[in-house]
Amino acid sequence: MPLDENHVFVPSNNEMSVLDQINRDKLPQHIAVIMDGNGRWAKKQGLLRAAGHKRGTEGVREAIEGCAEIGIKYLTLYAFSTENWNRPKNEVDTLMNLLVSSLKKEIKTLQENKVALHAIGNLSTLPKKAQRELNEVIEKTKDNKRLRVTLALSYGAREEILKSFKEISIKVKNNIISPAEIDESYINNHLYTHDMPDVDLLIRTSGEQRVSNFLLWQIAYAEFYFTDVLWPDFKRENLHDAIYNYQKRERRFGKTSEQIQ
Ligand code: FPP
Repeated sequence: MPLDENHVFVPSNNEMSVLDQINRDKLPQHIAVIMDGNGRWAKKQGLLRAAGHKRGTEGVREAIEGCAEIGIKYLTLYAFSTENWNRPKNEVDTLMNLLVSSLKKEIKTLQENKVALHAIGNLSTLPKKAQRELNEVIEKTKDNKRLRVTLALSYGAREEILKSFKEISIKVKNNIISPAEIDESYINNHLYTHDMPDVDLLIRTSGEQRVSNFLLWQIAYAEFYFTDVLWPDFKRENLHDAIYNYQKRERRFGKTSEQIQ
């Protein structure tokens, strides 16, 4: 074991866990996750896709607990896209039923850990039962301040941007605002995520490297992290790896390296 300047033994880097090496002063404020690979996980085990989605709820739990433990403030999970409605009806039903059962099951843990649940997307298209359950959990957890978990459900970034354009056009038409006054923050205020910071770190599992219509406006300066781990196998150690990797990068926001330093 190496010695530090005071001749005290310190663990060498390879003896420290990744968690120990994460700088708590440089955490990403907002992590977004494209949870992918449930179907492939199931196939590998010789199981039906539904079993992969069910096991995927373990990944959700790991991600939420991992973020709460380390001090992340915003976690947004892509749970169901506008395009996912095109999957076979039995798979859509499975996902909606899983949503309801997971909400019922997890409400107590969310409360105990001071986690607030939110949802973004075209929520009125969800089955009534899912809407009721979701609204109940959102209402009950709304004052929790440790971590905000947002489920993107029936969500599509283009739909979100289109909706904001329509709302803003109506305001222009009614002389509430002039086109010259519209700026980025005005558009931001018309998005589902108006009360959240931009995404700092976007994680996608299962080896796919694309954005799939997720938070297109909000990821303008996000760092991307892709891992081959299939979502049902995702553990908090994988989250630590992603955060550690993020902290090694230099975020320049269009400036030069010298300006940042
Ligand atoms: C992608 O895997 C995953 C989804 C479409 C849904 C995500 C759902 C969960 C993690 C489970 C439930 C979560 C909640 C909040 C109820 P895929 O089916 O596209 O996998 P594949 O690409 O391997 O086929």
